Formats: sequence, C-alpha cells, structure tokens
Amino acid sequence: MNVNLKVKRFDPSEPTKNTWWQEYQIDIHKDSTVLDALIHVREYEDTSLALRCACRASICGSCGMKVNGSAKLVCKTRVAEVSPGGEQVVIEPMGNHPVVKDLVVSLDTFFNQIKRIEPYVQPDHIPEKGEYIASNESMENLLTAMNCIMCGCCVSDCTVLEVDDNFIGPAALAKAWRFVDDPRDSKRENRLNNLNNEDGGIWDCTRCMQCVEVCPKGVDPMDRIMDLRDSAISNGLTNSFGARHANSVNKSIKHSGRIDEFRLPIESKGYFNIKEIFKLLIPGLRMLIKKQSPSPFHHKNPNQSKVKNIFKNFEENK
Ligand code: SF4
Ligand code: FES
Repeated sequence: MNVNLKVKRFDPSEPTKNTWWQEYQIDIHKDSTVLDALIHVREYEDTSLALRCACRASICGSCGMKVNGSAKLVCKTRVAEVSPGGEQVVIEPMGNHPVVKDLVVSLDTFFNQIKRIEPYVQPDHIPEKGEYIASNESMENLLTAMNCIMCGCCVSDCTVLEVDDNFIGPAALAKAWRFVDDPRDSKRENRLNNLNNEDGGIWDCTRCMQCVEVCPKGVDPMDRIMDLRDSAISNGLTNSFGARHANSVNKSIKHSGRIDEFRLPIESKGYFNIKEIFKLLIPGLRMLIKKQSPSPFHHKNPNQSKVKNIFKNFEENK
C-alpha cells in the first residue's frame, strides 16, 4: 500500500531551522505497523531520521510517539488503522517530554516523576525464612497497575502536565497505587498522606480521561488516581482542598440534585480559612457586577428524588 507520512523533525545542532515537517511517500505491506513504515523510511529514504524502538512487540515501551495527534506505541499501531482511506499519517514526538532529536524524547522528567513516589516495596520486617508470601487475592487488585511498561504515552497526552509541570503525572500515580495497596508495604499511611497533601498530587488530576484513552496496556491511570483519592478519604484524610471539594460536590448533589456553585469554592477552601475565603471576595464581586456570579439561593433539581434514589441504591449496595 502507498502511504504519505508527515513527520515532525528536530535537529538540535541545526542553528537556523531546528524544527520542520518532512513528508515521505512510501510503498509498504498492507499489514505494516507505523514503526515498520518509519524503519522503512530510515533504511531506504532518509538515514538521518532518528527514532527509538527495541522489542517491536509492545513490551519494552520505547516506541511511544504521537500519531495523528494522540500518543501510541507505534509498534502496536497498524498504518491501515490510522489511515483507513489512504489519508496522510502525521507523526510527532510524544508531548510533555523534552525532544532529543526527531521522534526521540528524553524520559528523564518521566523517571523523576516516578522517583517522587518511592517506587519500591517498603516492608516493616524481613521474613525469618524464605520469601514474604502475599496471597493471590491480595495482589489481584494490583494487576492493572502492574501492567505498566513505562512507555510515557499517558504523560505525553496529560492535559494537566501541559500547564503544570509540577504534577506527579498519571504513570507515577498509577505506580503509587501499586505500592499503596501492596499488602507487603508498611508505608501506606505515609504514601497517602504525601500524595494527598503534596502540591501536584492526587487532587490535581482533572479527570480529562486522556491517559485512559491512550494507555496501550489498560492500566487506566485515571481510575488508579480515583482509587488513591478513595483510599485517602477512607483513611480520614479529609482536610485537603481536593477532599473538601469532592465532599462539597457530593453533599450538594445528594441534598438538592445539583451542584451548589455558590458554596462550592467556599467549602473547598474551608469555612475557617478566612485568608483564602477573603481572596474569593474580589473575583466574586467582579462576577456579581458582570452578572456571572452563581446565585446564593440554591435551586433544587425537579428530579431531586431520583437523584436521592441513586445515592440510596449506591449506599445500600456498597
Ligand atoms: Fe504507558 Fe499506560 Fe504505563 Fe502510562 S500507565 S506509562 S500509558 S503503560
Ligand atoms: Fe517495544 Fe514498541 S518497540 S513497545
């Protein structure tokens, strides 16, 4: 099959034109992957094209790139999938990672995020004989998180990291869950405490779902972040901005079937946090003048009883 690849190039040694787009028209087998197509380019068209790969079997995690705008393992992505009608295929390096050359990115930032969560089991004792036995049941919950191959695709497409490079990121948080829920680990409370209070921790995820969409291994990092939030709240860590925010949303929907947008920012800051509440006054007044302020008189949803039933069913079946 004939395919047109549009590849984003970057050469740090080129002082005037170090980023540009280059097109390649190639003829490849119909079952080729995007990685096969790029290797074809490098072998027969342009030996200067830099890309990274190793296993070619979606195991090593080294071939993450953006294809038509979203991160993918290119060894797992067939050209026919992304260009069903012979459309041009656009290939770029992953986002939120510094580019080294062409399609090769540095994973230093990624691994620094992973290091922040202390990614190793910290038991409180060493078994006198043999190894520490963990039951199959106690580990089943961790299987999805353990499937991570550290490819960085979720980090590439994370919309929070685009604007806040202090966020720990979806891959590191999914890995944090893997240790928080490991029965051999003795630092569960410390880990939850840090992730709950840390600037850039579990409450900074905006649930955009991008990491779930792009993860090639079904780790579903966003769901693991929600597991961490649930565990933090069940462990009594309710005095953080995020926990208060979640609690306020839950309370107002349960009460009236709607989010009370007037109370939400106040309850999220905390009623006794006078300094922070004071900071809300100016933007609040500006919104009032522009008639964009939420009404202090909260209206109930006409279907409020149905919403209450959802809560009731959930609580009975928990
Ligand atoms: Fe890759 Fe998924 Fe692991 Fe993120 S969570 S690094 S997308 S395997
Ligand atoms: Fe190893 Fe793609 S080359 S995952």
